[in-house]
Amino acid sequence: MSRAPAVRLRPATREDVARLWQWRNDPQTRRASLDESEISLEAHARWLEQTLARPDRRLYVATSTGKDVASARLDIAAGEAEVSVTVAPEHRGRGLGPAVLQALARDAFGALGLARLVARIKRDNTASLTAFERAGFCLVEEGPVLMLIRESRRRRPPPAQFPRGRGRQEASGRR
Ligand SMILES: CC(C)(COP(=O)(O)OP(=O)(O)OC[C@H]1O[C@@H](n2cnc3c(N)ncnc32)[C@H](O)[C@@H]1OP(=O)(O)O)[C@@H](O)C(=O)NCCC(=O)NCCS
Repeated sequence: MSRAPAVRLRPATREDVARLWQWRNDPQTRRASLDESEISLEAHARWLEQTLARPDRRLYVATSTGKDVASARLDIAAGEAEVSVTVAPEHRGRGLGPAVLQALARDAFGALGLARLVARIKRDNTASLTAFERAGFCLVEEGPVLMLIRESRRRRPPPAQFPRGRGRQEASGRR
């Protein structure tokens, strides 16, 4: 099977409440979370309502071949966003995590105009570390929680040393 399955992102809605709740309470997702406790459906539904109303948060459901396969979240502040992703337990290990992160980066650096994505990953979560590195994130900080970032290409300085369009003509004109 290909390592880059096609995925699409759609905004999460209230109708996703049960599915998102199941993915959140999956044991591997809980181990990966800072808060490892099991969440009740009522508490999760309240969280979802608040989340959908927040202007600084984007919650997506990723679909692949017509099925809901993952959720992803951006928490936005000062031109950057913290990323979090959960692939449905039955769809893990097929390259969907990196594909979702690539789609998220396109949205974040394109339509949302963000400059940087940040991920905080527990040191023992090797599946997540692998997935984020495959999606172009780089480790920038060690510790019990690792920090990885991916920056928008627009932030990089232009490679040419001359002012654009002038340097080369002037240089060749002098010869
Ligand atoms: C971390 C996560 C998003 C990765 O997504 P994914 O679609 O499984 O990513 P990949 O298919 O690229 O697999 C990445 C690595 O996960 C591990 N993996 C493989 N199959 C797996 C499975 N069935 N279940 C769990 N992990 C698996 C492997 O180490 C794999 O690397 P490999 O292909 O070199 O063997 C997903 O496992 C997940 O949702 N985990 C629970 C929540 C979580 O940890 N979120 C991230 C918080 S920072």
